[in-house]
Amino acid sequence: MENNHYIPKVARIINIKNEVEGARAIKTFRTQFAGDDGFTHACGQSAMLSVLGKGESMISISSSPIEAEYLQFSVLKTGRVTSALHEMKVGDMIGIRGPYGNGFPIDKWTGKNLIFIGGGIGLAPIWSVLQTALGKKSDYGNLTLIYGSRTSKDLVFKEELRGIKQEMAVHLSVDNEEDRWEEYVGFVPNNLLDKNPSPENAVAITCGPPIMIKFVIKNLQDLGFKDDQIYTTVENKMKCGIGICGRCNIGPHYVCKDGPIYSWAELKKLPQEY
Ligand SMILES: Cc1cc2nc3c(=O)[nH]c(=O)nc-3n(C[C@H](O)[C@H](O)[C@H](O)COP(=O)(O)OP(=O)(O)OC[C@H]3O[C@@H](n4cnc5c(N)ncnc54)[C@H](O)[C@@H]3O)c2cc1C
Ligand code: FES
Repeated sequence: MENNHYIPKVARIINIKNEVEGARAIKTFRTQFAGDDGFTHACGQSAMLSVLGKGESMISISSSPIEAEYLQFSVLKTGRVTSALHEMKVGDMIGIRGPYGNGFPIDKWTGKNLIFIGGGIGLAPIWSVLQTALGKKSDYGNLTLIYGSRTSKDLVFKEELRGIKQEMAVHLSVDNEEDRWEEYVGFVPNNLLDKNPSPENAVAITCGPPIMIKFVIKNLQDLGFKDDQIYTTVENKMKCGIGICGRCNIGPHYVCKDGPIYSWAELKKLPQEY
């Protein structure tokens, strides 16, 4: 039984933050392992969170590996498991197994300008790498975040975004005009063109709804970014998380194991099954 990869480790919820209210509510959970058998993770990896009697969901670890005290997850309420997570309180226990996936190749990005492009809950998977780059700022060039959501109420990490504006360029957007909104109005891919980042010595990292990613990649290419300068994540539905069940495949690739992070140069060679 000791080698059973499906057995989760027990963790306690130590903090819950309401990020977004309403029908598409998002909460951020901080957790600590109950025993001394926890794990460390790489930027961009995910974990299976389980709620007793409800099931499991794959969720990106949104905290940086630099922060060893807790693991953080930002969860959009969509169905059975995520709704059960949203009902939980500080002190409640959940199961966590992982970490899964390949993570961002951040060690290869030393000295480069990093441009993070996110939409909605899609900021969560790139938040760990963004926080890591901020924590080791002297290792990288300029850091830029281009992030948007449908309305200003749907932005995640609102307080943190105000904080990081002191340390890096942050360009926010909402889809439509709002009272007192002073930043960009329009879709994220258009804000990207408006901010016109240089591809020179740069890497672009994008995560969000598939339609946003599609146009972000096209616009990055129009700005002169090469396919191997563009990274994105693929969130195919997953069950085992460890390359056994075949639920997440794109052609011969197990996204849970070989991904979920791909450069566009890698991803465009695979069948368009995502
Ligand atoms: C690598 C990876 C990282 C992820 N990171 C996050 C994250 O950081 N935060 C977050 O909120 N969610 C994330 N997700 C999505 C999350 O796993 C699903 O939303 C969750 O499993 C839904 O479970 P549920 O039981 O609440 O919903 P269910 O009752 O299973 O389904 C509710 C609805 O959501 C749809 N759905 C379920 N899983 C997915 C999926 N993977 N992609 C698209 N639609 C889906 C179902 O088809 C259904 O329409 C990630 C998924 C993957 C694969
Ligand atoms: S989720 Fe089972 S093989 Fe990827």
